[in-house]
Amino acid sequence: MAVHGAFARDFNQITPRRGDNVPLSKSRMAVRKPKVIVTRKLPDPVETRMRELFDTELNVTDAPFTPERLADALSRADALVPTITDRLAADMLEKAGPKLKLIANFGVGVDHIDVAAAVARGIAVTNTPGVLTEDTADLTMALMMAVGRRIVEGANVAQAGGYQGWAPTWMMGHRITGKRLGIIGMGRIGQAVARRAKAFGLQIHYHNRKPVSPRISEELEATYWESLDQMLARMDIISVHSPHTPATYHLLSARRLKLLQPHAILVNTARGEIIDETALADLLREGKIAGAGLDVFEHEPAINPKLLGLANAVLLPHLGSATIEGRIDMGEKVIINIRTWMDGHKPPDRVIPAMM
Ligand code: DGY
Repeated sequence: MAVHGAFARDFNQITPRRGDNVPLSKSRMAVRKPKVIVTRKLPDPVETRMRELFDTELNVTDAPFTPERLADALSRADALVPTITDRLAADMLEKAGPKLKLIANFGVGVDHIDVAAAVARGIAVTNTPGVLTEDTADLTMALMMAVGRRIVEGANVAQAGGYQGWAPTWMMGHRITGKRLGIIGMGRIGQAVARRAKAFGLQIHYHNRKPVSPRISEELEATYWESLDQMLARMDIISVHSPHTPATYHLLSARRLKLLQPHAILVNTARGEIIDETALADLLREGKIAGAGLDVFEHEPAINPKLLGLANAVLLPHLGSATIEGRIDMGEKVIINIRTWMDGHKPPDRVIPAMM
Protein backbone atom coordinates (compact mmCIF):
# COMPACT_ATOMS: atom_id res chain seq x y z
CA MET A 1 0.00 0.00 0.00
CA ALA A 2 1.45 3.33 -0.98
CA VAL A 3 0.51 6.13 1.37
CA HIS A 4 0.52 9.78 0.38
CA GLY A 5 0.92 12.89 2.45
CA ALA A 6 3.09 14.05 5.30
CA PHE A 7 3.04 11.01 7.53
CA ALA A 8 2.96 8.77 4.44
CA ARG A 9 6.51 9.77 3.46
CA ASP A 10 7.96 8.02 6.53
CA PHE A 11 5.53 5.18 6.16
CA ASN A 12 6.53 4.42 2.55
CA GLN A 13 10.24 4.57 3.30
CA ILE A 14 10.02 1.83 5.90
CA THR A 15 7.18 -0.28 4.53
CA PRO A 16 8.22 -2.99 2.08
CA ARG A 17 6.21 -3.30 -1.14
CA ARG A 18 4.83 -6.52 -2.62
CA GLY A 19 7.80 -8.50 -3.96
CA ASP A 20 10.28 -7.07 -1.44
CA ASN A 21 11.96 -10.02 0.21
CA VAL A 22 11.02 -9.17 3.81
CA PRO A 23 8.89 -11.40 6.09
CA LEU A 24 5.48 -9.90 6.81
CA SER A 25 5.92 -9.84 10.58
CA LYS A 26 9.15 -7.84 10.20
CA SER A 27 7.58 -5.47 7.74
CA ARG A 28 4.66 -4.86 10.10
CA MET A 29 7.04 -4.19 12.96
CA ALA A 30 8.96 -1.73 10.84
CA VAL A 31 5.97 0.52 10.26
CA ARG A 32 6.25 3.63 12.35
CA LYS A 33 2.93 4.50 13.84
CA PRO A 34 2.31 8.21 14.20
CA LYS A 35 2.99 9.68 17.63
CA VAL A 36 -0.38 10.95 18.84
CA ILE A 37 -0.44 12.92 22.09
CA VAL A 38 -3.80 13.29 23.82
CA THR A 39 -4.04 16.11 26.35
CA ARG A 40 -6.97 14.88 28.48
CA LYS A 41 -8.46 11.59 29.65
CA LEU A 42 -10.91 10.29 27.01
CA PRO A 43 -13.57 7.55 27.38
CA ASP A 44 -11.97 4.09 27.74
CA PRO A 45 -13.13 2.67 24.36
CA VAL A 46 -11.65 5.69 22.59
CA GLU A 47 -8.32 5.38 24.39
CA THR A 48 -8.17 1.62 23.73
CA ARG A 49 -8.75 2.12 20.00
CA MET A 50 -6.20 4.93 19.82
CA ARG A 51 -3.62 2.72 21.50
CA GLU A 52 -4.25 0.01 18.91
CA LEU A 53 -3.92 2.34 15.97
CA PHE A 54 -1.28 4.88 16.94
CA ASP A 55 1.79 5.35 19.08
CA THR A 56 -0.46 7.06 21.59
CA GLU A 57 0.50 9.00 24.69
CA LEU A 58 -2.51 9.32 26.97
CA ASN A 59 -3.13 11.56 29.94
CA VAL A 60 -4.23 9.00 32.51
CA THR A 61 -4.39 11.46 35.42
CA ASP A 62 -6.48 13.94 33.37
CA ALA A 63 -4.59 16.89 34.88
CA PRO A 64 -4.89 19.72 32.34
CA PHE A 65 -1.60 20.33 30.53
CA THR A 66 0.52 23.21 31.76
CA PRO A 67 1.87 25.50 29.00
CA GLU A 68 5.25 23.73 29.37
CA ARG A 69 3.73 20.28 28.93
CA LEU A 70 1.69 21.47 25.96
CA ALA A 71 4.80 22.95 24.34
CA ASP A 72 6.63 19.66 24.88
CA ALA A 73 3.74 17.72 23.30
CA LEU A 74 3.70 20.06 20.31
CA SER A 75 7.43 19.56 19.83
CA ARG A 76 7.23 15.75 19.80
CA ALA A 77 3.88 14.77 18.28
CA ASP A 78 2.89 13.90 14.72
CA ALA A 79 -0.70 14.62 15.74
CA LEU A 80 -1.99 16.39 18.83
CA VAL A 81 -5.46 15.75 20.28
CA PRO A 82 -6.30 18.80 22.41
CA THR A 83 -9.54 19.98 23.98
CA ILE A 84 -11.03 23.34 24.86
CA THR A 85 -8.81 23.39 27.97
CA ASP A 86 -5.65 23.80 25.85
CA ARG A 87 -4.83 27.28 24.62
CA LEU A 88 -3.16 26.96 21.22
CA ALA A 89 -2.54 30.57 20.28
CA ALA A 90 0.07 31.57 17.70
CA ASP A 91 2.86 31.91 20.30
CA MET A 92 2.20 28.38 21.57
CA LEU A 93 2.06 26.98 18.03
CA GLU A 94 5.61 28.29 17.52
CA LYS A 95 6.70 25.41 19.77
CA ALA A 96 5.46 22.88 17.20
CA GLY A 97 8.15 20.49 16.02
CA PRO A 98 8.71 19.72 12.34
CA LYS A 99 6.74 16.47 12.63
CA LEU A 100 3.50 18.04 13.80
CA LYS A 101 1.07 18.00 10.91
CA LEU A 102 -2.34 17.59 12.53
CA ILE A 103 -4.28 19.05 15.44
CA ALA A 104 -7.31 16.79 15.81
CA ASN A 105 -9.42 18.69 18.32
CA PHE A 106 -11.72 16.72 20.63
CA GLY A 107 -14.67 19.10 20.38
CA VAL A 108 -16.48 21.15 17.79
CA GLY A 109 -15.51 24.65 18.94
CA VAL A 110 -12.00 25.64 17.92
CA ASP A 111 -11.83 29.15 19.38
CA HIS A 112 -8.97 28.03 21.65
CA ILE A 113 -6.84 27.32 18.55
CA ASP A 114 -5.36 29.93 16.23
CA VAL A 115 -6.40 27.95 13.16
CA ALA A 116 -4.94 30.46 10.68
CA ALA A 117 -1.54 30.32 12.44
CA ALA A 118 -1.63 26.50 12.46
CA VAL A 119 -2.53 26.26 8.79
CA ALA A 120 0.20 28.80 7.94
CA ARG A 121 2.69 26.40 9.58
CA GLY A 122 1.37 23.49 7.50
CA ILE A 123 -0.63 21.98 10.37
CA ALA A 124 -4.17 20.90 9.56
CA VAL A 125 -6.87 21.39 12.21
CA THR A 126 -9.93 19.15 12.55
CA ASN A 127 -12.91 19.16 14.91
CA THR A 128 -15.90 16.93 15.75
CA PRO A 129 -19.06 18.47 14.27
CA GLY A 130 -22.46 16.80 14.20
CA VAL A 131 -22.05 14.21 16.93
CA LEU A 132 -22.73 16.55 19.84
CA THR A 133 -25.59 18.46 18.24
CA GLU A 134 -28.47 16.54 19.82
CA ASP A 135 -26.92 16.38 23.30
CA THR A 136 -26.24 20.11 23.31
CA ALA A 137 -29.77 20.83 22.08
CA ASP A 138 -31.20 18.62 24.86
CA LEU A 139 -29.21 20.50 27.49
CA THR A 140 -30.34 23.82 26.04
CA MET A 141 -33.97 22.77 26.49
CA ALA A 142 -33.18 21.58 30.01
CA LEU A 143 -31.79 25.02 30.88
CA MET A 144 -34.77 26.78 29.34
CA MET A 145 -37.10 24.65 31.47
CA ALA A 146 -34.93 24.91 34.58
CA VAL A 147 -34.92 28.71 34.49
CA GLY A 148 -38.52 29.19 33.33
CA ARG A 149 -39.98 26.69 35.82
CA ARG A 150 -37.50 27.37 38.68
CA ILE A 151 -36.49 23.71 38.78
CA VAL A 152 -33.16 24.17 40.55
CA GLU A 153 -34.61 26.54 43.14
CA GLY A 154 -37.46 24.13 43.84
CA ALA A 155 -35.16 21.10 43.99
CA ASN A 156 -32.87 22.90 46.43
CA VAL A 157 -35.78 23.73 48.75
CA ALA A 158 -37.00 20.10 48.68
CA GLN A 159 -33.51 18.67 49.24
CA ALA A 160 -32.94 20.98 52.17
CA GLY A 161 -36.15 19.76 53.81
CA GLY A 162 -37.75 23.19 53.36
CA TYR A 163 -40.97 22.15 51.57
CA GLN A 164 -43.88 23.25 53.74
CA GLY A 165 -46.79 22.31 51.50
CA TRP A 166 -48.38 23.35 48.23
CA ALA A 167 -49.44 26.97 47.99
CA PRO A 168 -51.22 28.77 45.12
CA THR A 169 -48.72 31.61 44.80
CA TRP A 170 -45.47 29.91 45.82
CA MET A 171 -42.57 29.21 43.40
CA MET A 172 -44.39 30.43 40.32
CA GLY A 173 -42.34 30.39 37.15
CA HIS A 174 -43.25 31.29 33.59
CA ARG A 175 -45.17 29.20 31.05
CA ILE A 176 -42.94 27.93 28.24
CA THR A 177 -45.60 26.87 25.71
CA GLY A 178 -46.67 29.59 23.31
CA LYS A 179 -43.70 31.86 24.02
CA ARG A 180 -41.38 33.40 21.42
CA LEU A 181 -37.93 31.85 21.23
CA GLY A 182 -35.19 33.86 19.50
CA ILE A 183 -32.25 31.72 18.39
CA ILE A 184 -28.96 33.46 17.71
CA GLY A 185 -27.00 31.31 15.22
CA MET A 186 -29.09 28.88 13.19
CA GLY A 187 -26.45 26.24 12.43
CA ARG A 188 -26.75 22.57 13.32
CA ILE A 189 -27.30 23.11 17.06
CA GLY A 190 -29.59 26.12 16.62
CA GLN A 191 -31.79 24.06 14.28
CA ALA A 192 -31.82 21.07 16.65
CA VAL A 193 -32.97 23.40 19.45
CA ALA A 194 -35.64 24.88 17.15
CA ARG A 195 -37.03 21.38 16.40
CA ARG A 196 -37.33 20.56 20.08
CA ALA A 197 -38.71 23.97 20.96
CA LYS A 198 -41.37 23.69 18.28
CA ALA A 199 -42.52 20.44 19.86
CA PHE A 200 -42.83 22.35 23.16
CA GLY A 201 -45.16 24.83 21.46
CA LEU A 202 -42.67 27.68 21.22
CA GLN A 203 -42.72 30.06 18.25
CA ILE A 204 -39.37 29.99 16.46
CA HIS A 205 -37.52 33.19 15.53
CA TYR A 206 -33.85 33.46 14.62
CA HIS A 207 -31.02 35.77 13.74
CA ASN A 208 -28.26 34.41 11.52
CA ARG A 209 -25.78 35.70 8.96
CA LYS A 210 -28.28 34.59 6.33
CA PRO A 211 -31.70 32.94 6.32
CA VAL A 212 -31.85 29.14 6.40
CA SER A 213 -33.10 27.29 3.33
CA PRO A 214 -36.82 27.57 2.53
CA ARG A 215 -37.22 23.87 3.35
CA ILE A 216 -35.85 24.28 6.89
CA SER A 217 -37.64 27.55 7.40
CA GLU A 218 -40.98 25.93 6.47
CA GLU A 219 -40.32 22.85 8.60
CA LEU A 220 -39.61 25.00 11.65
CA GLU A 221 -42.14 27.70 10.78
CA ALA A 222 -39.28 30.03 11.66
CA THR A 223 -39.18 33.80 11.31
CA TYR A 224 -35.87 35.35 10.24
CA TRP A 225 -34.73 38.61 11.83
CA GLU A 226 -31.99 40.43 9.99
CA SER A 227 -31.73 42.86 12.89
CA LEU A 228 -30.50 41.23 16.09
CA ASP A 229 -31.53 44.31 18.10
CA GLN A 230 -35.10 44.12 16.90
CA MET A 231 -35.34 40.41 17.62
CA LEU A 232 -33.91 40.80 21.14
CA ALA A 233 -36.51 43.42 22.02
CA ARG A 234 -39.42 41.17 21.08
CA MET A 235 -38.54 37.71 22.43
CA ASP A 236 -39.50 35.89 25.63
CA ILE A 237 -36.52 33.51 25.50
CA ILE A 238 -33.18 33.97 23.76
CA SER A 239 -30.82 31.04 23.09
CA VAL A 240 -27.26 31.53 21.87
CA HIS A 241 -25.79 29.09 19.32
CA SER A 242 -23.20 31.00 17.31
CA PRO A 243 -19.49 30.14 17.39
CA HIS A 244 -17.12 32.41 19.28
CA THR A 245 -15.17 34.43 16.73
CA PRO A 246 -13.79 37.99 16.80
CA ALA A 247 -17.13 39.04 15.24
CA THR A 248 -19.26 37.44 17.99
CA TYR A 249 -17.16 38.47 21.00
CA HIS A 250 -19.63 40.25 23.36
CA LEU A 251 -22.25 40.16 20.62
CA LEU A 252 -24.69 40.43 23.51
CA SER A 253 -23.12 43.63 24.84
CA ALA A 254 -24.44 45.69 27.75
CA ARG A 255 -26.37 47.82 25.24
CA ARG A 256 -27.98 44.83 23.56
CA LEU A 257 -28.81 43.05 26.83
CA LYS A 258 -30.74 46.14 27.90
CA LEU A 259 -33.02 45.60 24.88
CA LEU A 260 -34.39 42.38 26.45
CA GLN A 261 -37.82 42.53 28.08
CA PRO A 262 -37.97 42.23 31.90
CA HIS A 263 -39.64 38.81 31.68
CA ALA A 264 -37.05 37.47 29.19
CA ILE A 265 -34.86 34.42 29.81
CA LEU A 266 -31.40 34.09 28.26
CA VAL A 267 -29.78 30.69 27.63
CA ASN A 268 -26.20 30.14 26.49
CA THR A 269 -24.75 26.72 25.65
CA ALA A 270 -22.33 28.09 23.01
CA ARG A 271 -19.44 30.13 24.39
CA GLY A 272 -19.24 32.51 27.34
CA GLU A 273 -17.33 35.13 25.38
CA ILE A 274 -20.45 35.92 23.32
CA ILE A 275 -22.15 37.61 26.30
CA ASP A 276 -20.94 40.51 28.45
CA GLU A 277 -21.29 38.50 31.68
CA THR A 278 -20.82 41.41 34.05
CA ALA A 279 -23.61 43.38 32.35
CA LEU A 280 -25.81 40.27 32.40
CA ALA A 281 -25.20 39.67 36.11
CA ASP A 282 -26.12 43.29 36.89
CA LEU A 283 -29.39 43.03 34.94
CA LEU A 284 -30.25 39.72 36.63
CA ARG A 285 -29.58 41.14 40.08
CA GLU A 286 -31.67 44.25 39.36
CA GLY A 287 -34.54 42.09 38.03
CA LYS A 288 -34.33 43.73 34.60
CA ILE A 289 -34.10 40.26 33.01
CA ALA A 290 -36.10 37.37 34.52
CA GLY A 291 -33.44 34.68 34.38
CA ALA A 292 -30.47 33.08 32.67
CA GLY A 293 -29.31 29.52 32.06
CA LEU A 294 -25.58 29.39 31.39
CA ASP A 295 -23.50 26.33 30.54
CA VAL A 296 -20.46 28.31 29.40
CA PHE A 297 -18.44 31.19 30.83
CA GLU A 298 -16.03 33.75 29.52
CA HIS A 299 -13.09 32.73 31.69
CA GLU A 300 -13.70 29.01 32.26
CA PRO A 301 -13.26 27.32 34.61
CA ALA A 302 -13.61 30.57 36.56
CA ILE A 303 -17.17 31.84 36.83
CA ASN A 304 -17.76 35.56 37.11
CA PRO A 305 -18.35 36.05 40.89
CA LYS A 306 -21.21 38.43 40.12
CA LEU A 307 -23.18 35.47 38.70
CA LEU A 308 -22.71 33.32 41.78
CA GLY A 309 -25.56 33.12 44.26
CA LEU A 310 -28.19 34.65 41.95
CA ALA A 311 -31.43 32.68 42.41
CA ASN A 312 -32.53 33.51 38.85
CA ALA A 313 -29.35 32.13 37.23
CA VAL A 314 -28.91 28.40 36.61
CA LEU A 315 -25.20 27.74 36.10
CA LEU A 316 -23.81 24.48 34.73
CA PRO A 317 -20.16 23.43 34.35
CA HIS A 318 -20.02 23.16 30.52
CA LEU A 319 -22.08 19.95 30.22
CA GLY A 320 -23.46 20.47 26.69
CA SER A 321 -21.83 17.42 25.10
CA ALA A 322 -21.32 15.50 28.35
CA THR A 323 -23.00 12.18 27.57
CA ILE A 324 -21.04 8.94 27.38
CA GLU A 325 -22.47 8.31 23.91
CA GLY A 326 -21.56 11.79 22.71
CA ARG A 327 -18.03 11.67 24.06
CA ILE A 328 -17.40 8.25 22.45
CA ASP A 329 -18.76 9.56 19.14
CA MET A 330 -16.46 12.58 19.43
CA GLY A 331 -13.52 10.23 20.01
CA GLU A 332 -14.46 8.20 16.95
CA LYS A 333 -14.50 11.37 14.87
CA VAL A 334 -11.02 12.25 16.16
CA ILE A 335 -9.78 8.78 15.20
CA ILE A 336 -11.31 8.98 11.71
CA ASN A 337 -9.69 12.37 11.18
CA ILE A 338 -6.27 11.05 12.22
CA ARG A 339 -6.57 7.86 10.17
CA THR A 340 -7.68 9.69 7.06
CA TRP A 341 -4.73 12.03 7.42
CA MET A 342 -2.39 9.05 7.98
CA ASP A 343 -3.68 7.52 4.76
CA GLY A 344 -2.72 10.67 2.92
CA HIS A 345 -6.22 12.02 2.40
CA LYS A 346 -7.86 15.23 3.54
CA PRO A 347 -9.50 14.56 6.92
CA PRO A 348 -13.30 14.94 6.74
CA ASP A 349 -13.62 17.55 9.48
CA ARG A 350 -10.92 20.00 8.47
CA VAL A 351 -11.49 23.51 9.80
CA ILE A 352 -10.80 26.11 7.13
CA PRO A 353 -9.77 29.50 8.60
CA ALA A 354 -12.18 31.32 6.25
CA MET A 355 -15.08 29.33 7.78
CA MET A 356 -14.55 31.03 11.13
C1 DGY B 1 -17.31 21.73 22.03
O1 DGY B 1 -17.24 20.64 21.47
O2 DGY B 1 -17.14 22.80 21.42
C2 DGY B 1 -17.58 21.74 23.48
O3 DGY B 1 -18.08 22.96 23.89
C3 DGY B 1 -16.29 21.43 24.22
O4 DGY B 1 -15.27 22.13 23.64
